[in-house]
Amino acid sequence: QASERESMYLVSEFANTFFKNALHNTQEGKAIGLSYFKERGFTEETIKKFELGYSPDAWEAFTAEAIRKGYKLEFLEKTGLTIVKEEKQFDRFKGRVMFPIQSMSGRVLGFGGRTLKNDKKVAKYLNSPESEIYHKSKVLYGIYAAKQAIAKEDNCYLVEGYTDVIQFYQTGVKNVVASSGTALTVEQIRLINRLTNNITVLFDGDAAGIRASLRGVDLILEQGMNVKVCGFPDGEDPDSFAKQNTLEELTSYLEENAQDFIRFKASLLQEEAKNDPIKKAELVRNMVLSISKIPDAIKREIYVKECAAIMKVSEEVLFTTLAQLRNKEL
Ligand code: CTP
Ligand code: MN
Ligand code: MN
Ligand code: MN
Ligand code: MN
Repeated sequence: QASERESMYLVSEFANTFFKNALHNTQEGKAIGLSYFKERGFTEETIKKFELGYSPDAWEAFTAEAIRKGYKLEFLEKTGLTIVKEEKQFDRFKGRVMFPIQSMSGRVLGFGGRTLKNDKKVAKYLNSPESEIYHKSKVLYGIYAAKQAIAKEDNCYLVEGYTDVIQFYQTGVKNVVASSGTALTVEQIRLINRLTNNITVLFDGDAAGIRASLRGVDLILEQGMNVKVCGFPDGEDPDSFAKQNTLEELTSYLEENAQDFIRFKASLLQEEAKNDPIKKAELVRNMVLSISKIPDAIKREIYVKECAAIMKVSEEVLFTTLAQLRNKEL
């Protein structure tokens, strides 16, 4: 229902204003939230650009104010901003720093909230629940801020988290978005594809990051887009790396280390296969499977040749395998 969605947008917009005000204009927000963002190296300008906020550490600071202003509990609950339980109500994001998640056109759809506690039992990030206006598989964090730069640079950097986007942007690499903790989806890729045909996947320097990015790569290829991948030194993520480097250092790192997907996959899997012929055969098949996802026949042929050269197998056997895989899919 359109009016229901409209009410949810209005509540979300109000929440965004409330959280920003709490960050900038309250003692608690300044002492806790603002100083946290400053410690992370975010400038005042960046904090304003991404409309970062703070949710006070009280059971219903936000909810009480929203109700007082005439917003209905129904929509506070439907957006997940308020949790209603046994006739009691409380703020979902109590005591967290806030990252509003905007649509391509700048509407606030939901929020990510980071805890400031260093406690393993507390979820580091809490996100808005799925709702009529927030579908996490269809949004990309940062897309509103990044869209012009993505079109201009004709490339989009894809990172994992909120702070990766913000730190890249602040350093000067503005064509960057995050899938925000969900596995990359086709809908997210299509959002990027409205702006460019090229994606560079950047992953955290840990094993989980690498695995997740490999799954994303095949999906991007299926959409007919070009994909490169780039990792970071062990223990670093795009945020921590960008924070330690200048724009010149960051861009030259990206230029030197962004690899075409086929070479990346080859070097990564070769490490695992070593000289084991059975493993090597699996690896070659795995790479041909990725190539088989590419809709364009000319690109497939070029990649087959590249793969044959890297893996030292004949082109013929790769073309045969490719034909088999594509027949199976059709
Ligand atoms: N994430 C989440 N819920 C969690 C942990 C992570 O939704 N409990 C999402 C967030 O969008 C987060 C992203 O996954 O930004 C990447 O996770 P991670 O690398 O662990 O977090 P960072 O973004 O590096 O967070 P920080 O630097 O603030 O520790
Ligand atoms: Mn819907
Ligand atoms: Mn990670
Ligand atoms: Mn990270
Ligand atoms: Mn991080």
